[in-house]
Amino acid sequence: MKKALSDIIESASFKRLCLAGAAIAVIAGIFFAYVSVESNRVRTFEYKNSGMNTKQSGLVMKMVVPDDKLWKDGSHFPGKPVGAQYEFYLSNSADAKLKDWSVRIDFNEEPEMDSSWNGDFEVVGKTIFFDPDKFTESFRDGDPTYFGAVLYSEDKLNMTGYSITCRLQPDVLKMPFFYVLVFLIFIWIITFLAYLVSFAKVERIQYLRKRDALMIEQSIRTFTSFIDAKDTYTRGHSVRVAIYARELGRRAGLDGEELNTLYYETLLHDVGKISIPDSILQKPGVLTPEEYEIIKGHPTRGSEMLKAFTAIPNIRDGAHYHHERFDGKGYPDGLAGEEIPLHARIICVADSFDAMSSLRSYRAPYDNNRIIEELESNSGTQFDPDFIPYMVEMIQDGFTDRIRYEYGADGGRSLADEQK
Ligand SMILES: [Fe+2]
Repeated sequence: MKKALSDIIESASFKRLCLAGAAIAVIAGIFFAYVSVESNRVRTFEYKNSGMNTKQSGLVMKMVVPDDKLWKDGSHFPGKPVGAQYEFYLSNSADAKLKDWSVRIDFNEEPEMDSSWNGDFEVVGKTIFFDPDKFTESFRDGDPTYFGAVLYSEDKLNMTGYSITCRLQPDVLKMPFFYVLVFLIFIWIITFLAYLVSFAKVERIQYLRKRDALMIEQSIRTFTSFIDAKDTYTRGHSVRVAIYARELGRRAGLDGEELNTLYYETLLHDVGKISIPDSILQKPGVLTPEEYEIIKGHPTRGSEMLKAFTAIPNIRDGAHYHHERFDGKGYPDGLAGEEIPLHARIICVADSFDAMSSLRSYRAPYDNNRIIEELESNSGTQFDPDFIPYMVEMIQDGFTDRIRYEYGADGGRSLADEQK
């Protein structure tokens, strides 16, 4: 679980998703900061003369004096005989809530205040200042808010101008960008969930593949241990040759599944030896020509034994052709050059290196310099010359020494262990 979590966190897709999430968060932050600043900005709109009926940021106010609300009452305020009910309709068609607002109204003469409604009026000279009460304090688009006053004057009053001071709180639900933001967040969440689901599936597939690889590896290793056990001098041979061959292939440019196939193919290259009597295989002295012919039969016998092993394509090639020589003088088919399958040419080099570097009943192991001499002098005759430089490089940089040390008599670790 811990590993799965760290795999998720370290994956490039997860980092890209986090970056996208951070970018969306920054955009959302900027958007809501803008909304907040706009909501708190105190603004004043001035309306004068012919512009009094023109909306500014969706705001406009109209003054109405109903015909039946105009009268003459000379006794009420001396010198101001004309009384009227002045009604004001403030409309808001902005996609914003009007808040903390007040209105200043200018007239052509100085009026006297008789009464007012829906807020407080204050008369200063020819100007009236209006503050709404709590019922009319804030409103959205729709019916205009309404307030008014009964005023007296020499003649019917004319409004010469007005101003509205307010805060306009944007309505995010009416802003298209808000929906773009919601869409982005929605897409991000869906992508994130899809990523988690696909990651879990990939993890499961990888787990199954690793388990399958382990089963194949362990089955083949168990089988090859029977082969190697027949001859104390070749114990661990199949595993070491398989590791040399895979490294040789890797350095020569092979990769992926092909390297695994090469590894398995090499593990099974001497499988035919299982059919050779111990008396011949473990004979300490020189073999008779008949005994040598029996030994030489192990490639074809191995190839026959692997006939039914079809899960890994061409797995028989390693067993069948690893004793072919590049010059065509090998066995069992006498193939030459590139007629010999590529993997078999690699196995031939790795197999010969292990034979030369291992103890035999009839000789001590060769030292590295002697082995390099042998490899180079047989390059192009026994061995494919393309692979000799890589084998020499593996000897000189200490790779083969490490494998000989680590995979000596006991066979060492498994391929699956190495892939962990
Ligand atoms: Fe062999």
